[in-house]
Amino acid sequence: MEAPTAAPDMAALRACWHPVAFAHELEDTPIGRTLLCEPLALYRDSGGVARAVCDLCIHRGTALSLGWIDGDQIVCPYHGWHYDSGGACTLIPQLADPTRIPKKARIGAFACVESHGLIWAALEEPRWELADVPELHDDGWTVVTAGPYTWSSDASRQLENFTDFGHFPWVHPGLLGDPSRPVVPEHTVDTDGHVLRYQIVRPEAPNSDDFPVFGNEQTELPMRRSRYELHLPYTIVLRLGWGGEKGMVYFFASQPIDESHCAGYVVMARNYDRDQPPQVLQDFEDTIFNQDKRVVESQRPEQVPFDLADELHLRFDAVAVAYRRAMRAEGLATSRRS
Ligand code: FES
Ligand SMILES: [Fe+2]
Repeated sequence: MEAPTAAPDMAALRACWHPVAFAHELEDTPIGRTLLCEPLALYRDSGGVARAVCDLCIHRGTALSLGWIDGDQIVCPYHGWHYDSGGACTLIPQLADPTRIPKKARIGAFACVESHGLIWAALEEPRWELADVPELHDDGWTVVTAGPYTWSSDASRQLENFTDFGHFPWVHPGLLGDPSRPVVPEHTVDTDGHVLRYQIVRPEAPNSDDFPVFGNEQTELPMRRSRYELHLPYTIVLRLGWGGEKGMVYFFASQPIDESHCAGYVVMARNYDRDQPPQVLQDFEDTIFNQDKRVVESQRPEQVPFDLADELHLRFDAVAVAYRRAMRAEGLATSRRS
């Protein structure tokens, strides 16, 4: 792996919420996920509340996510030790008195919350709240999820790809852009702490016959208004409009698995075509993300190089520049030079 001169700071990223699963993936049995190289066991307690603990039993290092749930406890599959949601071991069946637990018998436990159709975890006290997206909780909007898209790249590259306007006609011709209209419209980025806001209005590809997913008001040269909110480090709220009442929201968040792997979760909401089978939108997203994947996985270094002297930024790359500045200003990307 190539190391950029300034890269995402894995320690600083621990104090942020990150998606680790779709809510619908977490049912009656624990699942294992990795966040910032930390193995997590996710499960629901007896009240259905999502919990996240370290996925390593203190006894012999077995993955607790292979175990099961007993009431509010997660049970190790090897020797049946029980742990509560705070990480304390509560039962050791091999002991004559199974409740005489040594103090050292505990594992890490992490902040965990269910919101926007996702399970989120933070390895340390999170600095910021999750983005507010009222459309996802509005009966007038239909929600469809897509992904997770697991890529061999860092979450910063996956996030930046989602923000990048210049590639639409080239990577997604006929679906998100038109190679005869490659010019990126003027736009400015407003940075407010850890939130970047910007918008563009541009002609896009008309709805394709294969994927009629957009709310275009006319078929000739549909103008799409795209309003973005980029919440550091790896979340985007994108609101699309076509000049009328129809609206679509893309909520995208990338899970930093480790320095060269990520998983992208997409939660979409629309107030039109509400009876269209979700598969149409899901197939569209699968197509788009697969077109992006091969390009982004080829990028070196695998992580966004956050030093502006690296790579070449032109005027239409304003978002990429603002993202790099903000990540550094908030201490989420740091220089590796001594
Ligand atoms: S390894 Fe988990 S109880 Fe022994
Ligand atoms: Fe793309």
